[in-house]
This record gives sequence, structure tokens and C-alpha cells, in this order.
Amino acid sequence: MKATIVLLPGDGIGPEVVHEARTVLDVVAARFGHQFTFTEHLIGGVAIDRTCTALPTPTLAAATAADAVLLGAVGGPKWDDPKARVRPEQGLLGIRKALGLYANLRPVRVHPALAGVSPLKPERVQNVDVLFVRELTGGLYFGWPKFREDGSLHRRAVDTLEYREDEIHRIVALAFKLARGRKKRVTSVDKANVLESSRLWREIATEIAAGYADVTLEHQLVDSCAMRLLTHARSFDVVVTENMFGDILTDEAAALAGSLGLIPSASLGSGRCGLYEPIHGSAPDIAGKGIANPIGTILSAALLLRHSLGLHDEADVVERAVDDVIAGGARTADMLNAPTDKALSTAELGTLVRTAIVDDGYRHATAAS
Ligand code: IPM
Ligand code: MG
Repeated sequence: MKATIVLLPGDGIGPEVVHEARTVLDVVAARFGHQFTFTEHLIGGVAIDRTCTALPTPTLAAATAADAVLLGAVGGPKWDDPKARVRPEQGLLGIRKALGLYANLRPVRVHPALAGVSPLKPERVQNVDVLFVRELTGGLYFGWPKFREDGSLHRRAVDTLEYREDEIHRIVALAFKLARGRKKRVTSVDKANVLESSRLWREIATEIAAGYADVTLEHQLVDSCAMRLLTHARSFDVVVTENMFGDILTDEAAALAGSLGLIPSASLGSGRCGLYEPIHGSAPDIAGKGIANPIGTILSAALLLRHSLGLHDEADVVERAVDDVIAGGARTADMLNAPTDKALSTAELGTLVRTAIVDDGYRHATAAS
């Protein structure tokens, strides 16, 4: 198949991890006979430096016309001035909103070989497999009014948490559909004991559940959900929640898997074009050192193959290659168990994944002949 993929490396370690994922896609294309065309565009801090805006018009135009977008990360200390009018994060939020990508899927699976890397006891994280479905274009991130006021007596700032019925409906319904392909359990997370928007969320989730007799729904308050992730993470299947709760809970959940650097995400809307990115940030402290973990971005590329290109076998092959490489002991610095373990570079780990994809191809070809 032919596909156009827009690359948005962004800031910090973004370019390093996107490079590894792109070359993984090259290997997939060669093995399966696809033709992927890549174009690279600016977003975030690098875009501010060159164009004075975090989401330049050519970037959005290219993304809109593409089959899929693969993004690294945005942000960094250089652009962190709280008074700045233009911020790197506006690029990311802007592209999510402009492409209508309301559903952010964040699968958190604990690889058996990494159970010892998590800060929790291995028996607590063994076999954890949670799919977070984070609402991505509403809530506190986008609600209006949103402003800051520096009065003569005091300073004041306002953010607004608003959700409309249709926004809640489409994300919760998606969670139910996805649960049907899994263990058929949905946990809807809210703060209904305090927030009006959460009470509406809970009401709508309950209404939707009536149409899915085969899927169980439970409601959980976000604070106790945060605790249950540390004590009984295995008891979750699909977790659906609003934008900011999802942002916070998924960083927490990533620690179960051993490292924030391992977790991919897919941001989807009603069309086929999706945005794929690791859930980690730009990690300015290690940028340019060649030691960042490329797995979250490589697994995001696998999600891209599956969700935007419909290439399921290809996505499985990439995920299997990552699993095999981890099982074989390959680690970047963030995944180490003991200080004596050897850390691979970003490029070395990427190369191992590509080799595993090629080797898997040979095994298949030999088995078939
Ligand atoms: C994420 C990030 C972003 C978010 C930031 C960079 C705006 O933390 O994708 O989780 O909060 O959505
Ligand atoms: Mg986040």
C-alpha cells in the first residue's frame, strides 16, 4: 500500500526517537512491500524559534492531508517562561484540536521481563494490561473562559472544566467498543462527588452501558483510581476518563510498566488520520545524548500501522519484535534493574528491533517454503 506519513520530531529527544521509529517503518515497508512517503514538519519549540508560532500553517496543512502523523515531543526549558504568549504545548494541543482527535488510547502492558524494573513489588505489576482511553479535546485544557488577570490588589487565573453531552458520549462509547475486544470491563473515572461535569459524565456512562449488556461498567473516583493503580492494577481492563485525569493517571500507570519511555499512544478522531506519539515528554536533560528510550515511539508507529493504515499483521510484527528484544535483555538506561546492567543507546536498541523484524520475516519465509 501507499501512505503519506507526516513526521513531527519536535523538541528535546523527539528527533532521536522519531528517527528510530521512522527507520522501523522503513523496514516494515521493505518487508511487506509497502511504499511509505515521509515528510517532516515543525512543531513546538523548534517551530517557535523558526516561525514564531508553535503550529505553523504548513505543518497543519501537511497533517490534514496525510494518512497519519508521528510526533516526538514538544517543550523544554528554553520556552518555559510562564509569561510567554507562545508556548510549545500550544502546537500539540492545537493539532489535536484541529484534527478533531478526541480519543487518546494509551495501552499500558507490563512486559514479564520488566516486572522487576517497576518501583512496585513485581507481583503487583505482573500481567498488568490496561487500556486508557483519555478524552483529548475537551475539559480543562480547552474550556473557556481561560485567562489571567493581574489586578492592582491581587493576581487571579481561571481555567474552565466543561464537557458537552456529545463529547462525553463519543469517548465513553468508544471505550465500550474497545472493551468488547478485550476483557469486557470498563472503569469510568471521574470526580462526581465534587464536579458537576463529572456527574454528567457518570450519568452518560451509565446510559451508554445499558446498550452494552456484555460489558461491565464500574465508576471510580479519580483519587481512589490513582491508589488502585498502585495496589490492584491488574483489576483494570479499559479505563475511560476526561482529559486531565487521563494525563495524570497515564504517567502514573507508566511507572508500573517500568518506564515512561515505553508507553505509546494513538490519538484518533472520526476520520482515518491519527496522531501517534509516545506519552513521554521532551526530556531536555538527556536530549542529544543518544540514550533516550525509542520504544514508546516505535510502539506508537505500530499503533499507526494498525489504526490509520489498517495494517494489522505489520503492527503485530513490530510489537512482537519489541517484546522479543526486551525479553532478550535489551535495555536503555531508563529500563535498568541493577546498576550493573548494561544500557544500550537509542540507536542500538532501534537496530535490535529492526533486526528482529527482518529475522522474523526470514523465519516466516522459511516456514512457508
Ligand atoms: C501528554 C503531555 C501533553 C498533555 C502536554 C505536553 C501538553 O503531557 O501528551 O500527556 O498534557 O496532553
Ligand atoms: Mg502527559
